[in-house]
Amino acid sequence: MLSQFLFLLCTAAAAVNAQVGPAVFAHVIVGNTASYDVAQWQTEIGVAQEATIDGFVLNIGTPLAGTTQTQIANAFAAAAAQPGDFKLLFSFDYLGGSDGAWVASDVESVLSQYAGNAAYYKANGQPLVSTFEGTSNTGDWSGISSSVPGGIFFMPDWTSLGPNGIGQYSDIIQGAFSWDMWPHGPNNSTDDVDKSWQSALSGKSYMMGVSPWFYTNLPGYHKAWVWRGDDTWHLRWMEVLDVKPQFVEIVTWNDYGESHYINDIDEAGIPSDNEGNSAATYVNGYDHSGWRSLLPYYIAMYKGDSAPAIDEEIIQYWYRLAPAVSGSAGDVTGNDCPSSVNIAPTTDSTCYPIDQILEDAVFFTALIKSLPATITFQIGDEDPESIPATQVGLNHFSRSFTGKTGNVTVGIERDGSPVASGTGPAIMDSWPNGVAVYNAWVGSASSASATKTRRDLRQRKRSSRL
Ligand SMILES: *[C@@H]1O[C@H](CO)[C@@H](O)[C@H](O)[C@H]1NC(C)=O
Ligand SMILES: *[C@@H]1O[C@H](CO)[C@@H](O)[C@H](O)[C@H]1NC(C)=O
Ligand SMILES: *[C@@H]1O[C@H](CO)[C@@H](O)[C@H](O)[C@H]1NC(C)=O
Repeated sequence: MLSQFLFLLCTAAAAVNAQVGPAVFAHVIVGNTASYDVAQWQTEIGVAQEATIDGFVLNIGTPLAGTTQTQIANAFAAAAAQPGDFKLLFSFDYLGGSDGAWVASDVESVLSQYAGNAAYYKANGQPLVSTFEGTSNTGDWSGISSSVPGGIFFMPDWTSLGPNGIGQYSDIIQGAFSWDMWPHGPNNSTDDVDKSWQSALSGKSYMMGVSPWFYTNLPGYHKAWVWRGDDTWHLRWMEVLDVKPQFVEIVTWNDYGESHYINDIDEAGIPSDNEGNSAATYVNGYDHSGWRSLLPYYIAMYKGDSAPAIDEEIIQYWYRLAPAVSGSAGDVTGNDCPSSVNIAPTTDSTCYPIDQILEDAVFFTALIKSLPATITFQIGDEDPESIPATQVGLNHFSRSFTGKTGNVTVGIERDGSPVASGTGPAIMDSWPNGVAVYNAWVGSASSASATKTRRDLRQRKRSSRL
């Protein structure tokens, strides 16, 4: 009896230990959290939990001192204090730190402090550890891993090696993460590269990146370009269902400089480059929180639920505020092509005119509970359009805004009655100050908020009667 019980206990423990994913993380730039206290980290964790994100990947650059030390400690204190089972893990940034690449002894030191923490994410019972690049320091990792009792589950992002270059490291890695997650040139996103990584890893784990956007204008940091965003947020999640990776990493939670944040903007964290250019010029006013509203649905599907229950109907919508040809692009190039500013062209460095990279369109995805349902769309005082939903679940569309100006209104209707409705800022034909911004504004409306609004109205009516 007892031995049977012990046997069951052991197999249960082994099953838990052997588990590798699925999990969805969001990439947090710890360098942008300098003003946070534990309470702010708890707030951020709560917001991520609402979106059913499992944990934060803490991107940390050198030196291991000051803000980095303080905020790692705050994040772990917050994860311990916050209800739920939110996890943290490190991504050692070998390119972003002010002291250059990590030295092995610092990596070992921070892992000895946190890898055993209950909030540190474990895969196969081992702490999951990632990087941003670091291909000149590959030799450090077998020593780092042996410095941690039981070893680490190592999934570096060594994207610059390409899928063909990863095989030679199979004895020191348990998997890999690829940063190659944005569309190439004017094309839509595809998962061809993800599948190449997956096959090069021959059975080891793959972490797939999902990012909604990429626009950066920080010339002092040699970064001024835009990649195609457009339909990507939706298409990429569909690609996740196709690739079925062990892990997904959302890029990012709070990288304002590259315009792919999905948290609620924390103004103190918006960076400026060393020439005094602030990303605030293209981040303030560009709310991205709407991109979180469908995450519970996408993530449930990724985790194997082919038809997740739909409690609220949701419409998520995003767009730039003016045509791509309008305003001055300044130093910004279409693609990260070589220029007087950009010095680090990546795998796809062909230059394109920005209006070939980006479509002048409103992109929207509606989560529909039952058919028939109609998605409504209107720009300014143009005639509203009614688009029939074609399926229960996700319905994705885009509509050109060429030649149109004014507020964008989207909604869901059933039997002629509004179920959800949202209005976003006006599309303009030109930029008031002549300077183009290629960031997206993102909104989301749900049947729950529509119900709430109707209730608020009833309450207001009632109180006005009193
Ligand atoms: C875009 O797609 C076309 C057609 O598949 C392909 O020929 C072209 O190389 C792609 N462009 C880039 C930049 O990947
Ligand atoms: C990109 O994908 C969207 C959504 O499927 C589609 O409407 C659009 O035509 C595609 N564009 C290109 C350039 O392939
Ligand atoms: C319409 O657009 C203007 C200009 O962007 C904005 O100030 C206003 O709040 C928008 N209206 C609504 C209802 O969102």
